[in-house]
Formats: sequence, structure tokens, C-alpha cells
Amino acid sequence: MTVPFTTLNDGVQIPQLGFGTFKIPPEDTERAVTEALSIGYRHIDTAAIYGNEEGVGKAIAASGLKRDEIFLTTKLWNDMHPRGLARVAISTSLEKLGLDYLDLYLIHWPAPVKYGDSYIEAWDALQEFQAEGLTRSIGVSNFNVEHLDAISGTVPSVNQVELHPTLTQNALRAELAYRGIACEAWSPLGRGADLSDATIIQIAADTERTPAQVIIRWHLQLGHIVIPKSVTPARIAENLDVFNFELTDAQVEAITALDRDARSGSNPALAEF
Ligand SMILES: NC(=O)c1ccc[n+]([C@@H]2O[C@H](COP(=O)([O-])OP(=O)(O)OC[C@H]3O[C@@H](n4cnc5c(N)ncnc54)[C@H](OP(=O)(O)O)[C@@H]3O)[C@@H](O)[C@H]2O)c1
Repeated sequence: MTVPFTTLNDGVQIPQLGFGTFKIPPEDTERAVTEALSIGYRHIDTAAIYGNEEGVGKAIAASGLKRDEIFLTTKLWNDMHPRGLARVAISTSLEKLGLDYLDLYLIHWPAPVKYGDSYIEAWDALQEFQAEGLTRSIGVSNFNVEHLDAISGTVPSVNQVELHPTLTQNALRAELAYRGIACEAWSPLGRGADLSDATIIQIAADTERTPAQVIIRWHLQLGHIVIPKSVTPARIAENLDVFNFELTDAQVEAITALDRDARSGSNPALAEF
């Protein structure tokens, strides 16, 4: 299964479909990531706060793949925004992952309620890390337009945000396209909830695919980078098997019309963590 690449605004190529690892317990992570790598995933998304970077690193080391065959993203947690702490955080992540560079390092949340504008300093730190070769690309996550406006220097390569058929983020997606920032969808299946939508089920029947495949295909056709998570081997395989069919424009539009602003996570401007 060959996953197409998206070229980021810094020229780095990222596999458009990756493997999410949020809520995979540390003891299950090596097995799940090994499963994903063995069937062809080459892009893994983790974060310091997930507590599973060691498991991801063990799976990468055991895979036999060359370092440059794998695209690894991790994220800076909110209490580590100040420059000196951010440097400790990236070193710790690299050590836990057993890597000497990351492919993509993200500010996990702007977290303005608890940490003020510390994310601005974090962005300056990430630019230093990129210049030093500690990470190939740098980006942000959960940034609203006001947070994008507040940072300066390098334009983020990616904004990873909650995005799925019942939360289509139309205004933010248009803004990211305008700014040349790739849009990466977290909880792309709505944490599973969007799979039972009647329209999705109907399109799945019409295309003889599963609801998850229909939703992942919708993301891909809209140009999102997409990182579904599963610990279930059959689902891990199903979610990758999405490159042998296409949705019609009408099907894509019908799915986009399911938007009802249904966030499963926090509004980034209001999050209190
Ligand atoms: N930047 C951020 O703040 C942020 C926040 C949240 C998530 N993320 C990233 O985005 C990734 C994906 O988001 P997510 O994990 O929240 O949600 P998700 O990928 O939308 O959904 C995961 C849920 O859907 C189930 N599932 C997966 N494939 C399925 C299939 N083919 N059929 C039926 N059910 C299926 C999984 O079950 P099983 O695992 O039991 O199979 C799990 O319960 C995360 O893992 C993480 O890497 C980032």
C-alpha cells in the first residue's frame, strides 16, 4: 500500500495518512505501532503527554526500517513552553524515542488560559530546534487564527486540529489554505462517533467500503493529513486500505454538510489545561 505524500511549506514530504497513538497505553504501544509499520504505515503521531514515546521508539527500532523511511511527529506539552524547558522537552522526547532527530515537532496547545502567551516563546524555541537539525519540520496544534497571528518568524508547516465530518472547521481550513499551512486532522473519525452517522453508513453501502474508509477517504480528498488511531489489527489494516476507491464530489459534499460543530475535545481558546 503506497501512501501519497503531502509537501509541506518547508519542502519536507509527509505521508498523508499516518497512525495516531493517543490513549494507546504504554504497554500496548510497541505492539500497535509494530503492527502499523508492518503493514505499511510510515507516519506515526505521538506526544510527550501520551506517555508512550518509548513504545513508539521500540517499534521503530525493531522495524528494520531505515530512519528516513519513517515520519515521526511528537509534541511539546503546555507546561514546557518557555525556551529552556522546551529544550529539555525535545531532548527528553528524542531520548525516549531513541532518535537523533524528529520529522515534525508541534506545539501541542497554545493553552492561553493557563499559560498566557508562553506559546509565542515556544514557537521561537521550535525555530531554533529546526535550525539546529533536531527536527526537520515545525508546526502547531490546536491553534486558532488568533494564535497563528501572534507568533512570528517561520510560518508553521502544519496545524493539527480536531476535524471530522461533524466538525468540519470550514473557516479555519480556508484560513490555513490561504496561509500555506497544511491541515492535519486529529480525531479524524470523531473518536469513532461519526462512524454511525446515517449518511456515512449510506455512502459506505454505496461504495462497498466501511464507514471508517469513507471518512478517511473524505479527509484525503479534501487534502487533509489524517492520522486515525486503532489498537485493533483489522481496523489498523482497514484504515490504510483507502487508496483503491474514490468518493464522488457529491459524496464529499454530503459528508462536509454533516458539520454541527461537534467537538469531542476542548476549544483551544478556552482549554484550562
Ligand atoms: N493534537 C491533539 O491535541 C490531538 C488530540 C487528539 C488526538 N490526536 C491525534 O490524533 C489521533 C487520532 O485521534 P483519536 O485517537 O482521538 O480518534 P480517532 O482516530 O478519530 O478514533 C479512534 C477511535 O476509533 C476507533 N476506530 C479506529 N478505526 C476504526 C475502524 N476502522 N472501525 C471502527 N472503529 C475504529 C478506535 O478503536 P480501537 O482503537 O479500539 O480499535 C478508537 O476508539 C490520536 O491517536 C493522536 O495521535 C491529537
